[in-house]
Amino acid sequence: MQDKPSFTRREVLKMGAVTGAGVALGTLWPFRVASAATRKGSRFRFIHYTDIHVQPELAGARGYAQAIAHMNGQKADFAISGGDLVFDSLKTKRDRCERLWKLYTSLGNDFDMPVYQTLGNHDNLGLSNPDISSSDPDYGKKAFLNRFQQNHTYRSFDHKGWHFVILDSILPQPGGWKPVLDEEQMAWLKSDLAGNKLPVIVTLHVPILTFITQITHGPMTAPGEHLAMNDGKALRELFEASNVKLVLQGHVHIREHFEYNGINYITSGAVCGSWWNGPRLGHPEGYATVDIDGDSFDWKYHTYGWKAVKS
Ligand SMILES: [Fe+2]
Repeated sequence: MQDKPSFTRREVLKMGAVTGAGVALGTLWPFRVASAATRKGSRFRFIHYTDIHVQPELAGARGYAQAIAHMNGQKADFAISGGDLVFDSLKTKRDRCERLWKLYTSLGNDFDMPVYQTLGNHDNLGLSNPDISSSDPDYGKKAFLNRFQQNHTYRSFDHKGWHFVILDSILPQPGGWKPVLDEEQMAWLKSDLAGNKLPVIVTLHVPILTFITQITHGPMTAPGEHLAMNDGKALRELFEASNVKLVLQGHVHIREHFEYNGINYITSGAVCGSWWNGPRLGHPEGYATVDIDGDSFDWKYHTYGWKAVKS
């Protein structure tokens, strides 16, 4: 296992097929959501890339570097990661966790835009490994907070007339976690949305709406406690009472789109596809761009030329 990738930037650029003229690879599954009245003056692009699961095995580190090189060709204002940045911080040994976080942060230095980070379940140190002490300075969410120098795992910011909210969908439990907001974060979210007049885009790792288990197991199978937000109904109703327009989700590694009561819920596939083993249920490795134009937005999913390698 290596702390640093053993490939050059030039090699990654070559593999990613990013040219001086821009992004050369495919765009999949684009759609536009338009409102009746378009505001003027708000035009920008941002990236949503989720479920990287960076790891040395299966050339996953090289894959992430290739994805970053491709994303840099998009000329976006900023990127938001969707969580599950490393694979894995929950269960694996302490020294491996350290190496994985070094991989993620060192590769991330190649972004040519600001990156806002979202916490995923796999990013919590030691929650499912009794060998890691809860007194470890990086235990649980502290691994994430320390790496990105944040005081909270959730936050909000404004950009060119839009309000962005990044949620922490992971609640630690004895021996593991469940996807639900704690009381403190829910109170913060209510207050944040109440004090905002701009249209809102929310990101969180675990979906509020997903059909993943109905797809994989049939229509009678519900997502269960780890695949969808346990408090998803409360969140959806809060969003519907606020100015939320778009919710960007991760976790299930496929592309999904739901529109319900005027809010679009989109799952942006996965950078790692099926954990670097190839596409997940036919959904290729990739990331999304969102182009804002007034009150409208276009969401597009982009592949970056990755082909799975054998371990
Ligand atoms: Fe994931």
